[in-house]
Amino acid sequence: MNLASVARTESHVLLPTYDRQRVLFEKGRGVYLWDARGQRYLDFLSGIGVNALGHGHPAIQAVLKRQASQLIHVSNLFFHPYQADLAGRLTKTSGLDRVFFCNSGTEAWEGALKLARAHARTLSTNGHKPKWRILALENSFHGRTFGSLATTGQAKYRNPFGPLLPGVSFVEFNDTRDLKRQLDGSVCALCVETIQGEGGIRPVSAEFLQAARKLTHKSGALLVLDEIQCGLGRTGRYFAYQHYGIRPDIVTVAKPLAAGLPLGAILTSNRVASAIHPGMHGSTFGGGPLACAVATEFLRQLEPLLKHVEQTGNYFRAKLEWLKAKHSCVVEVRGMGLMLAMDLNSADLAKAVVAEFLRRRILINRTNDTVLRFLPPYIIEKKHVDHMIRTLDEVLASQVHKVRSSPKRRRS
Ligand SMILES: Cc1ncc(COP(=O)(O)O)c(C=O)c1O
Repeated sequence: MNLASVARTESHVLLPTYDRQRVLFEKGRGVYLWDARGQRYLDFLSGIGVNALGHGHPAIQAVLKRQASQLIHVSNLFFHPYQADLAGRLTKTSGLDRVFFCNSGTEAWEGALKLARAHARTLSTNGHKPKWRILALENSFHGRTFGSLATTGQAKYRNPFGPLLPGVSFVEFNDTRDLKRQLDGSVCALCVETIQGEGGIRPVSAEFLQAARKLTHKSGALLVLDEIQCGLGRTGRYFAYQHYGIRPDIVTVAKPLAAGLPLGAILTSNRVASAIHPGMHGSTFGGGPLACAVATEFLRQLEPLLKHVEQTGNYFRAKLEWLKAKHSCVVEVRGMGLMLAMDLNSADLAKAVVAEFLRRRILINRTNDTVLRFLPPYIIEKKHVDHMIRTLDEVLASQVHKVRSSPKRRRS
């Protein structure tokens, strides 16, 4: 099979949901991927934040092989040895008490919304006023299913599918005054991505998140964090909220959890978990033996990597700032750890840069029109960052002449 024939067949048989880059990948090792023609690519995207240990990690492969030959699936009607151990590691590293396993980010987010509503109902049976409204942030992204869409603060994702879940309102990003205005006793959950991913790698401010924690404590709403993209080591800590000195009531994770296998999780406190009883929520596939055994190995490998993520992230960020000082088309550099972005002054330029990177065989992507997003595997080294920065320097210089930049955006 070559690229042309795969693309042709897909165009007849798949729903046209994806506008794929024209490359057919066949193999991966470490920070590199190889296409069907044997050409090597440097991976600075890791399958949108999934392949945190890179490709073909020997420890992950060993667990995969062993577990696949032993037991892949039993359903949640029975016990298997791996959920308890994995949940124990997640509760220990998060400071939360309980875990529910599912298969994807959006599924974790749906479960978190259900949990918030269920918890609010237990309050209202104690004579409190009904709490059912949900606050989410403008410019957020929580996934593609209905609850996730309803709480996603970008109209382009929501509009084709209305009417959505009622009772959701959006708070201006990082605007504590707007939060105070909207957070009344009818709100059961305040939803926040600790670092907005699809929205252009925008960390929530410490002032906003700390105020949100205090205000939700006072109102009785739950603080629900989406760390599906920014959690599990991406920022150099297990969870991004650990940089802010707060603890949420619920946090969702997914992408890197099972090193490329689909697995998501909802983490919460005993208090919130007491709202759930057998039969209220569940999943056929979620938390199966194969995914859980692999995820346990991922967390084992992650521990000694956290410092490396922090240090390499700081190094990378400093180099991106150096490029910002050099190239007037760079509006801003944002992010934490190895979740970094460069915001350019034109969507056409950002598009041209991503295309040129693919031509030069480095994988990055563009989000929020003007933003170059970098989500490399946690195992990248300084030499890979240096190669990326040299290429970015050349590509910015060459593409800026080819693309007329928008006069509307100014450097901050
Ligand atoms: C912050 C965030 N939440 C939720 C999701 C949805 O995850 P999934 O695509 O696994 O459903 C994503 C995916 O990009 C995400 O970045």
